[in-house]
Amino acid sequence: ETPVVSIDPARRLSKINPNIYSGFTEHMGRCIYGGIYDPGNPLSDENGFRKDVLEALKDLNIPVVRYPGGNFCATYHWQDGIGPKEQRPARPELAWLGRETNHFGTDEFMKWCEVLGTEPYLCLNMGTGTLDEALAWLEYCNGTRDTYYANLRRKNGREEPYNVKYWALGNEVWGPWQVEQTTKEQYAYKAYQWAKALKLLDPSIVLILCGETGVTSWDYYTLKNCILPLNSPLSTSAVPLIDMHSIHLYTSSDKHLPNVTAPLAAERAIELASSLIDLAIVENKVPPTQPRPTICFDEWNVWDPMRAVGSEGAEESYTLSDALAVAVWLNVFIRKSKDVGMACIAQSVNVISPLMTSKDGVTKQTTWWPLLLFSKYMRGETVAAHVSCGTYDGETQPEWVRAVKETPWLDVSAARGDDGYVNAAIVNISDEKDLESRVNGVTGEVVVFTVTASSLAACNMNGKQEVGIAESRWDGK
Ligand code: AHR
Repeated sequence: ETPVVSIDPARRLSKINPNIYSGFTEHMGRCIYGGIYDPGNPLSDENGFRKDVLEALKDLNIPVVRYPGGNFCATYHWQDGIGPKEQRPARPELAWLGRETNHFGTDEFMKWCEVLGTEPYLCLNMGTGTLDEALAWLEYCNGTRDTYYANLRRKNGREEPYNVKYWALGNEVWGPWQVEQTTKEQYAYKAYQWAKALKLLDPSIVLILCGETGVTSWDYYTLKNCILPLNSPLSTSAVPLIDMHSIHLYTSSDKHLPNVTAPLAAERAIELASSLIDLAIVENKVPPTQPRPTICFDEWNVWDPMRAVGSEGAEESYTLSDALAVAVWLNVFIRKSKDVGMACIAQSVNVISPLMTSKDGVTKQTTWWPLLLFSKYMRGETVAAHVSCGTYDGETQPEWVRAVKETPWLDVSAARGDDGYVNAAIVNISDEKDLESRVNGVTGEVVVFTVTASSLAACNMNGKQEVGIAESRWDGK
């Protein structure tokens, strides 16, 4: 039976937030040092920024980049990373057990974002950091008045505020690996208090609550206790305390079919987290005038920590199977565009990344190619796509993907761009079948971009270039 993909461009489902193509740079391994920042390297500009990395990232048209972690945030004191470089303290770093020179800090990151043409997203230290420090950071970045930290920014050479819009209330503070791990009760109380103060200082910011996988009692409890309006005697309109809820999930398996179907867990996580947001809204009687929080999937990717062990910091070597898994991940974000306000691939350079640097250049890993295609073409609005084909019903990773068993061999999403063109992303997850399909709802000439190779183990590292994009045309009949 020939598989049939039916696309209905007239059935517009929801807008795709361009922020689903966001990135993440952490002080981890070679992401910052030797990745985006490599002073002295002939490939770097006058700021020490790797030009080849910037050029590659510009192709992805990345709207937002999260920084400085990750787990790194839990002991990071941002004031160590400003002012004259020779006076900045080097510190032991507890998340990845490195040595942090602080030569790359807030002003360097802001400059890098400006050169890349992206918006910064900062994650606050809710481990060893204090609310005072967080407020000072916000004032340093966004302050416009004659106040201490705004003046310190001016003294450091930046007159205009950076207007950092996105701020995260900590990172994975539920995790036993975190310095100053907290319980959900402790976190919800603290996040509420921090959110109140931060929004009093700058009500225009977007605050992101630290969720877990979107499906746990942590997610339920923290949403329930933090989706509330800002309680200020001075505010006349309802300012929400929390604008987004974060979810983190990494998937992987050394077997292809569990590997490529694992990202479907993210689809379930988004559905469940979205329901928890609605539940909190109902239970807290949040007025309809207050915007509904969206999901910030601010860490996602294919990552097998065991496979990456021994590298300088989770330097994954990706295969074609992983590239297909990344394509399924991205299909999930397109299908769930109604709920996902942002998604950040973890990470942007070297660490668990599609882009790897050496002293002499950058390598685009297998996972780079689907990311590039999605970022170029899967924008605008999600439109209805239906697939009729056989299904996979075997082992899945994690186990709870079983909730979506009978997974079609073709994983599909479709988008209608602002230019009126309709684009479809079709991932053949089968490890053996070449599924020639019929596509309904398509007229005119079609440009087809194919990401494939002769083996699922194909890889682009160590001088190989086995996976790329092949372009062909089809007359639509
Ligand atoms: O992205 C790597 C790490 O994975 C991040 O630092 C942390 O938040 C997550 O556990």
